Amino acid sequence: MQVLAVASEIFPLVKTGGLADVAGALPGALAARGVTVRTLVPGYPAVMRALAPGSAQVRHYDELFGGTASIVAAEIAGLNLLILDAPHLFDRPGIYGDGGDYDDNWRRFAALGKAGADIAEHGVPHFLPDLVHAHDWQAAMTLAYMRYGNAHAVPSVITVHNLAFQGQFSGSIFPGLGLPDAAMSIQGVEYYGDVGFLKAGLQAASAITTVSPTYAREIRTREFGMGLDGLLEGRAADLHGIVNGIDTAVWNPETDVHLPSNYGPRSLVKRRMNRAAVEARFGLDNDASPLFCVVSRMTWQKGIDLLVEVLDPIVSAGARLAILGSGDHAMEGALLSAAARHRGRFGIVIGYDEPLSHLMQAGCDAILIPSRFEPCGLTQLYGLRYGCVPIVSRTGGLADTVIDANEAAVSAGVATGLQFSPIDASSLLRSVERAIFLHRDAGVWTSMQKQGMKADVSWDRSAGRYASLYETLISEE
Ligand code: ADP
Ligand code: GLC
Repeated sequence: MQVLAVASEIFPLVKTGGLADVAGALPGALAARGVTVRTLVPGYPAVMRALAPGSAQVRHYDELFGGTASIVAAEIAGLNLLILDAPHLFDRPGIYGDGGDYDDNWRRFAALGKAGADIAEHGVPHFLPDLVHAHDWQAAMTLAYMRYGNAHAVPSVITVHNLAFQGQFSGSIFPGLGLPDAAMSIQGVEYYGDVGFLKAGLQAASAITTVSPTYAREIRTREFGMGLDGLLEGRAADLHGIVNGIDTAVWNPETDVHLPSNYGPRSLVKRRMNRAAVEARFGLDNDASPLFCVVSRMTWQKGIDLLVEVLDPIVSAGARLAILGSGDHAMEGALLSAAARHRGRFGIVIGYDEPLSHLMQAGCDAILIPSRFEPCGLTQLYGLRYGCVPIVSRTGGLADTVIDANEAAVSAGVATGLQFSPIDASSLLRSVERAIFLHRDAGVWTSMQKQGMKADVSWDRSAGRYASLYETLISEE
């Protein structure tokens, strides 16, 4: 089976969040099941730099949304890629913008979709996809171009990684998309008078997936549907929740090259050296108190404002906290001033630092994830794998992947973390206090760490679910 994936990010080349990790790891897991995936990605500078000279150009455009372009086939870092080389659209500093969003993002990602649909229709040498899999709004127009183009019927899947990002643009861009007039309808790309890229993909896809079963249920409700709950409820029969896995080769505490000290479930004591490295990096006291961490975009979604509210009581309760992240400037400012107030107890690094994120999972006792909504979440899965106990809000993929340390779970020895709800500051604080209490009992804490490390967070099961969904759709076509 040959599958064309379309994605705007892919680890290790370009990453702003979990989408990149998924786009980078899923193809390898599917290969083991006889599915060949090639991924179409934009030719951002980081991608073009990684390209070997003389890579094969498999398609040329004299004109694609305002400039010449080509599709180049290449294998980079074990990824089988098709790269949309369109310098007028992608030869720029940021992925989605440089500070804010680029004004012509609609054109950049419509071009990606058009290229995807062309590959679906004509194929490239040695590759004619049996199915197209688009990720998020940036890739969604692939399915609209396929639907309104001449493509022979190729089944398609769209995965929603985050309904908060929909690619909604003024209706005035419609003529520039080159779609037939009929597409500007509620069945097509029209969305409250605007053009909605994700909406268009959700309408056109043969099947819709999202990245956890709980989020698949949540997005059919007004509270989580972000305006698309009606459409999603209408397509409930085609909507599937498949939880993400992680790349267990990249995220393996026994071999991770970013760690001063590698370890496994039977040598947890070796985490101490990593912990000391975290303390040094964040300017924290070296003592035996619990050390919590956060690795996150700083946004309302991630509940960082809830954390800001409870920083003082967390520190008063005796814990230490290390935070890595960037995003909302007000949240960054509030955290920086709290760090200045609590020297030695609370440290912060503003920025994006992949190696440091590994070190924190390998050295801290617990990772806090107080998200207001979370389609899947990957940092709790890294936490499980690294013995960094996840403390999560009970929503989306967080609810599906962490077993709360309630009385029954603790006595049965199956707990892997802590969940809290409702999702507010006081309930977050109570769960942190509960964690501090549990941490005092080394036996209980170690058992949680080991249970987490035993949990299957690999792609194996979920890749199987994607493969059987693909098979079903292809056989129905
Ligand atoms: P989202 O994609 O919504 O941001 P996920 O939990 O799915 O949330 O994925 C986030 C990914 O980005 C994880 O791989 C996480 O380790 C990484 N990450 C987030 N912020 C940072 C940061 N400041 N530095 C390094 N890695 C980060
Ligand atoms: C999105 C979601 C996150 C998910 C990731 C990968 O960024 O916010 O929950 O883990 O996509 O699917």
